[in-house]
Amino acid sequence: MKLVTIVGARPQFIKAAAVSRVLRRQHQEFLVHTGQHYDENMSEVFFEELHIPRPDQNLGVGSGSHAKQTANMMIGIEEILLEEKPDGLLIYGDTNSTLAGALAASKIHIPVFHIEAGLRSYNKRMPEEQNRILADHSSDLLFCPTETAVENLKREGITKGVYQVGDVMCDAVKYYAEQIEKQDKSYYFNQLRGLFCEVIPSEKWYIATIHRAENTENIQKIREILEAFEELDAPVLFPVHPRTKGIVTQLYQQYNYQNILFIEPVGYSMMLYLVKHALKTITDSGGLQKETYLLDTPCITVREQTEWVETLSGNYNILANPEKNDILSKIFDTRISPEKKLNYYGDGHSSEKICALLSSASN
Ligand code: UD1
Ligand code: UDP
Repeated sequence: MKLVTIVGARPQFIKAAAVSRVLRRQHQEFLVHTGQHYDENMSEVFFEELHIPRPDQNLGVGSGSHAKQTANMMIGIEEILLEEKPDGLLIYGDTNSTLAGALAASKIHIPVFHIEAGLRSYNKRMPEEQNRILADHSSDLLFCPTETAVENLKREGITKGVYQVGDVMCDAVKYYAEQIEKQDKSYYFNQLRGLFCEVIPSEKWYIATIHRAENTENIQKIREILEAFEELDAPVLFPVHPRTKGIVTQLYQQYNYQNILFIEPVGYSMMLYLVKHALKTITDSGGLQKETYLLDTPCITVREQTEWVETLSGNYNILANPEKNDILSKIFDTRISPEKKLNYYGDGHSSEKICALLSSASN
């Protein structure tokens, strides 16, 4: 098959690293970077470190309102599709880049193949939920990570072209977690010291990421989250997403936090290392909830709901409100039940399953 693949945001680079490696053995891929994420440490670092093939085209769309960003992506993607005439368009996840690809292709009758289909938070105020629903309803092949995702689609009447293949982020975690084990602790600590962080937590740390609009667009919520971090019993390493940088800088100037180590976003291996050896992870990221689950690090998710419901089993993942006391009590009072932890996300070979299904679809 000749495929055009759309990526644009950090988690999509990580997913594409797992899939493209396998895909290119059997299929021809034209890789399009929309330019949604463009800072060196949000984009280029992943292409280099994970050996992702260079994009054949970068649309350079950049940041903007939802409509402006999505519309500019659609214009660029449509031009490429008309020129390349692929057999299908491959999209990942739930970002504006995903939606732009799905709409541009389906309008001109190019089959859409959605990786990470069927996820639902059932909170339609989230832009990601809107993107997921619209992308799934425009897709011809829907590659679901979990049984829950298949059931979610069934409820919306989508049963044709639906395959449960496991989670491609699990492919990435399994592949790269093996590699981080080969490196000594000093390798990561030296990098941290050299690059960003003057004070290194010597033995114990928490790791945190916060970037969802629902948490970052309200100064009261982010202040409560940082106040909880201040009261923890070990330092909190906080790689700050660019969306969160402005508000966090403003609060830091006011409160001069002592227990939080604010650092720039880090590369993938560094992130996996920091998560694997952290006391706990505190996040609102989708991808991190699964990574912590797969790496056996307990997670506190600062959101009202999660689309990765399986991670809640055994209390490996606990939802918390963006309130200091709720976050602290979830961190300190939660008991984990390891016997309830199951393997929901596949065997690390989801990419192979997707590529085989694409091959049979083309016959
Ligand atoms: C996007 C996705 C979200 C995903 C996240 C992954 C949508 C609607 N949201 O959110 O689902 O979880 O990516 O990280 O697609 N910015 C920079 N440099 C960059 C990128 C962004 O400074 O390289 C800043 C800009 O001020 C921008 C803001 O971050 O306005 C938000 O970026 P955007 O891509 O719109 O959404 P994310 O919050 O990154
Ligand atoms: N990540 C990373 N460096 C960081 C923060 C996150 O490599 O500084 C990785 C993280 O391990 C996960 C992915 O980025 O694989 C998650 O992306 P993000 O939280 O931006 O998006 P989401 O998954 O919420 O859509």
